[in-house]
Amino acid sequence: MLHVVDHPLIQVELTALRDRNCPGSAFRQHLRRIASLMVPAVTADFATRPVPCETPLEITTGVAAERSIVLTPVLRAGLGFLDGFFDLLPQASVAHIGLARNEKTLLPESYYLKVPPNLADCEVILLDPMLATGGSAVEALRNLKKAGAKHLRFVCLVAAPEGIQTFQDAMPDVPIFTAAVDRCLNDKGYILPGLGDAGDRLFGTT
Ligand code: PRP
Ligand code: URA
Repeated sequence: MLHVVDHPLIQVELTALRDRNCPGSAFRQHLRRIASLMVPAVTADFATRPVPCETPLEITTGVAAERSIVLTPVLRAGLGFLDGFFDLLPQASVAHIGLARNEKTLLPESYYLKVPPNLADCEVILLDPMLATGGSAVEALRNLKKAGAKHLRFVCLVAAPEGIQTFQDAMPDVPIFTAAVDRCLNDKGYILPGLGDAGDRLFGTT
C-alpha cells in the first residue's frame, strides 16, 4: 500500500524545491508541477463505467468516472498540492481539514473540517506534502472516516519511515502515494534531509 511515485521529472522538481535558497514563488510552482505529475499514478486504478459517446460520424462507447473526486488538503501545506491536482481533475470538489502540529508534543490539533455531501460515494484524496510522525495524516483520516468517507488515499511529497510505519499501523486500508521516502526524523520531528517547514516555505511565514 506504499507507492513511491519515482519519475525523473518529479525528482528534478523535488531537488529544486528542497534547496534552502528556493524562494517561495518557485517553491509553489515546483510543488504544483509535482502534484500534477503525481495525478496519473494516484488515480490509475479509479473505476470507470461505459457511456455512449456520439462523435460527428457515429455513436461509440466511451467511459465516465464511476465516482466523484474530493480533494482534501490539510491546512496549510496541503493547499500547495491543490492547484496541481485541480489542473488535471477540474471537476473535483474540495474538503478542507485544519490541523496544526503542537510543536512541543508533536501531536496534531484539529481546528477545522468542512466536507461536501455524499462523501461515502466519492474517491477522497487526502493531500499533505509532509508525512513526518504520521500523527496529522492519521488524525485527518479519522476525521474523514467519521464524516463518512469510504474510498480514501493519501498523497504526500516526502515521507519519513517513522510516519509510514505509524500510518500503516493505524490505517492499513489507505494507500500512500509519495514522491520520496527520506531517511528519518530529527529530535524536533522534522524530516531529514526533508525540506524544512512546508507551510512556512509556501506562505512566507518563516
Ligand atoms: C505540517 C505538515 C503536516 C504535518 C506533518 O503541518 O504539513 O500537516 O506537519 O507532521 P506529522 O506527520 O508529524 O503530523 P503543520 O502542523 O506544521 O501545520 P502548517 O501546515 O499550518 O504549518
Ligand atoms: N512538517 C513539515 O512541514 N516539515 C517537516 O519536516 C515535518 C513536519
